[in-house]
Amino acid sequence: MSPQRSGQWYGGTDRNAYIHRAWMRRGLPSHAFDGRPHIAIANTASDLTPCNAHLNEVAQSVSQGIYEAGGIPLNLPVVSLGETLVRPTAMLWRNMAAMATEEMIRANPIDGVVLLGGCDKTIPSLLMAAASVDLPALVVPGGPMLTGTFQGVPLGCGTDVWRLSEEVRAGTLSEEKFLRSESSMIRSRGHCNTMGTASTMAVVAEALGATIPGTAGTPAPDSRLLEASHEAGRLAVEMVSAERRPSTVFTRGSFLNAIVALAAVGGSTNAVVHLLAIAGRLGVELTQDDFDRTGAGVPLLVDLQPAGQFLMEDFHRAGGLLAVLNEVKDLLDPAAMTVTGKPLVGYLDGAEIWDREVIHPRSDPLQPHAGIAILYGNLAPDGAVIKPAAATPALLQHRGRAVVFDSIEDMHARIDDPDLDVDADSVLVLRGCGPRGYPGMPEVATLPLPQKLLAAGVRDMVRICDGRMSGTAYGTVVLHVSPEAAAGGPLGLIRTGDVVILDVEGRRLDIDIAQEELDAREPAAAAVAAFASPTRGWEQLYVRTVMQADTGADLDFLVGSSGDTVSRESH
Ligand code: FES
Repeated sequence: MSPQRSGQWYGGTDRNAYIHRAWMRRGLPSHAFDGRPHIAIANTASDLTPCNAHLNEVAQSVSQGIYEAGGIPLNLPVVSLGETLVRPTAMLWRNMAAMATEEMIRANPIDGVVLLGGCDKTIPSLLMAAASVDLPALVVPGGPMLTGTFQGVPLGCGTDVWRLSEEVRAGTLSEEKFLRSESSMIRSRGHCNTMGTASTMAVVAEALGATIPGTAGTPAPDSRLLEASHEAGRLAVEMVSAERRPSTVFTRGSFLNAIVALAAVGGSTNAVVHLLAIAGRLGVELTQDDFDRTGAGVPLLVDLQPAGQFLMEDFHRAGGLLAVLNEVKDLLDPAAMTVTGKPLVGYLDGAEIWDREVIHPRSDPLQPHAGIAILYGNLAPDGAVIKPAAATPALLQHRGRAVVFDSIEDMHARIDDPDLDVDADSVLVLRGCGPRGYPGMPEVATLPLPQKLLAAGVRDMVRICDGRMSGTAYGTVVLHVSPEAAAGGPLGLIRTGDVVILDVEGRRLDIDIAQEELDAREPAAAAVAAFASPTRGWEQLYVRTVMQADTGADLDFLVGSSGDTVSRESH
């Protein structure tokens, strides 16, 4: 009998073992069943996920590495989510992708898995799945695209779409020029090249210990990505013999290291919900407050869009994540391991910064305190998130009159109405966009500024929402408000004209009214009417069981690991 898990299928002389081997012989020789590890390559390549379309080539290099190390590579196409295409929002399907991938890893004769992701939700869903099955697993991030330019100026993928479209609305850019920039936006294979969610999750996965250190941020067309992929294949085989599983690699210290990295690179707020969900699958204690506590003392060292100016190609050239982490080494948990079996900090010696404009040294940070702030108050009893590094400093302490939108449709219908009673000090509130409300917690929290204010030169306002914002977006945006309006949160009670107090330093978000008055209010009828509970399929299951943003927006029955055991034979 093979010592490997796959041997439960292939070992022995009975009818079932015969069936399992016989059907797999199309391409596999007899010695494939002699006990060598079978490694799945969980591959999110898809023509409908253009950021991941090159992953089949990456999979070939992984495959060669697995063969070379004596394993058997098996391509396992898994659910893939193209951020720009999937409706109503890719986040609605993150948990479905994680659940389907988890079940397919567990259900098959697999001893370990290499996870190929890139576009925003793909690395999170793969890590959630691997954490739940707890077989040896590592990530190969697909890498960012190269920098495109338009009229001699670099374009930040995503970020510049928001910026240019606001310029059109403000009347400072012609629509013709805007449309001409379209063909320059995406220069090559790979995911968005700003420090958006995809880049953030690749970096965060590396800081968590889930990749070969030094690979995150390697541009997708760079030959070094294929070299790293080959190495990842070899490492997967070694991980199986070492029984190096997610539960043994990813500790609370690993997650805190990931939070340090998130702050130092100025990463996306989406990492909060994704890391909470992954930790939930592992049973690692992690809360929203850990992001504030651990991230608050971390300096912002990376000058990348959307908060700064450079792009991922520059980041990689300047030394990448290891150079960043070397600057904040004292803030890292020295015991936290990586998939290689060595601690993360062991990779930092000699990790130099090659361009100090892109990656600043600790002695000259872009901001002394980066990170994500968690706000509480009568508008967000379970917390809300703000990324101060992407906000306008003058708006971080603000008092303004709420202008409330009951749904995304309501916002679209009225935001540019010349008669909308709004000024630059108003606080734009959008509700009905949380996990249940939309459903799926879309990236709509950066609601557009009213056209008349844009035309008057206003470029930022305080915005509050129970949804998320794109990692490529920026602004003074309070998001992930929990509980959301559709779950009975006080965001459903606020009315246009109420005064909102935002105090980021004091970590407060309040409506300036007495608690008794707020308690006496009924949820706004229009907000209730805008929420139509789905009656079938995934959406119905999702809305019934999804948790709130403050705990990662996973489904309540998917929290925790189920391990790799399958209860019954298939015949
Ligand atoms: Fe795929 Fe941005 S759309 S990473």
